[in-house]
Amino acid sequence: MKLNWAELLVVNNPMRVLEQRLEVGWMKKHARLSPGGSFLEIGCGRGAGATIIREQFSPSFLCATDLDPMMMNRALRYLKGRVTRNISFCAADGLYLPLADGVFDAVFGFGVLHHIPDWQGALSEIARVLKPGGIYFLEELYPTLYQNFITKHILLHPEENRFGASDLQKALDGAGFSVRASFQLKFVGVLAVLEKVS
Ligand SMILES: C[S@@+](CC[C@H](N)C(=O)[O-])C[C@H]1O[C@@H](n2cnc3c(N)ncnc32)[C@H](O)[C@@H]1O
Repeated sequence: MKLNWAELLVVNNPMRVLEQRLEVGWMKKHARLSPGGSFLEIGCGRGAGATIIREQFSPSFLCATDLDPMMMNRALRYLKGRVTRNISFCAADGLYLPLADGVFDAVFGFGVLHHIPDWQGALSEIARVLKPGGIYFLEELYPTLYQNFITKHILLHPEENRFGASDLQKALDGAGFSVRASFQLKFVGVLAVLEKVS
């Protein structure tokens, strides 16, 4: 689901970049990936996360994708004048990635799963494109934050099939991920580093 005006304000600002920097720093400590791998980001938005991932992990290739072509245009504007070596952008639905099986060393998803009505399907898709032993870096929010009595009038999200911490954990187990590290903020969301084990 595409973002409405309110969430565009939430994600397209310098505080969000700072937050993502801190998050990627935390993720890096829990997944020592050698430079030079193939990386994918789903729901990349305006591309700030992709530049941080490139800087921190030095992949040989980072494919940054988003459902919304307007976000791709924003990303191209945001990246003008920044170092973008090895990053390529393409519009794609996280639920139907036009990518081969088992090709990525790492997949990143910052705040995207809770925008996808069939988020369990997207988890299977992420597991499909990861190599065995590949890492899934996840940042997610819970409905207690984005669908409470105030935020449900301002933000736009799918209303059915929402997930909290235990639903997410169950679906991650089902998709074949094991948790390397996680940081839960009760009623807010989670940061996690997951490994594809089966
Ligand atoms: C909350 S924003 C996060 C953007 C960026 N990752 C960030 O952290 O600033 C969610 C992004 O997911 C994208 N999105 C929504 N549904 C999607 C889907 N089914 N597949 C891929 N991207 C999707 C939206 O267009 C939006 O750019």
